Amino acid sequence: MNFYILTLFPDMVREGLNTSIIGRAVQAGHLAIETVNIRDYTLDRHNRVDDYPYGGGAGMLMQAQPVYDAWKSVTDRLGYRPRCVYLTPQGPTFTQTMAKEYAGEQDLIFLCGHYEGIDERVLEEIVTDYVSIGDYVLTGGELPAMVMVDAISRMVPGVLTNQESGSWESFENDLLEYPQYSRPEEWMGKRVPQVLLSGHHKNIADWRQQQAELRTRERRPDLWQRYVEGQGGGGE
Ligand code: ADE
Repeated sequence: MNFYILTLFPDMVREGLNTSIIGRAVQAGHLAIETVNIRDYTLDRHNRVDDYPYGGGAGMLMQAQPVYDAWKSVTDRLGYRPRCVYLTPQGPTFTQTMAKEYAGEQDLIFLCGHYEGIDERVLEEIVTDYVSIGDYVLTGGELPAMVMVDAISRMVPGVLTNQESGSWESFENDLLEYPQYSRPEEWMGKRVPQVLLSGHHKNIADWRQQQAELRTRERRPDLWQRYVEGQGGGGE
């Protein structure tokens, strides 16, 4: 899968995504992450990419032209217009379900805004998806783009090893993951739950399911509600 990230801070994005599992997946050729510096497309003598908003108000806006030309450099090369995600609090909140869905794309463009936003006209022209990562305001779209690239990449075949992917994950079936333990059997007086040392696969699976439910009910009552409804009612 190929990611194209349009940004004023390409170093930040590249640095953030070149380590650990995502870095390894790029090395192995499962993913390609290309940053496009919007400033490279300015026609302004002083390399400016922002200007004052018409009608007044706080801050500066990113201008349409450099954003459009940065986007066009990608779509001209590809010969088609892949989905283009604009990171903004003004969109539906990113979820695991959306991560899986985006992982089916061959190419995906991310547009990272800065300052007070981007001239609306270029958004109308190029953006297909408006996505938020949560109800808070960040200083730019780079961190949200990195969050999305990370979550989507994990869903691309080959990126995770069998070991890493496991079938049981938080948000599978609306449940959080059960607690896990490694050596030693006792640490600071706390023992690993006996059932996990038993080698009894059925009992272990039952215990894990129980723990996942307990944990979801306590920590994420909103998810628990959905889970209970998904089970066809019943509940507690
Ligand atoms: N840009 C600024 N805040 C954001 C958020 N919460 N999600 C996505 N993009 C953003």
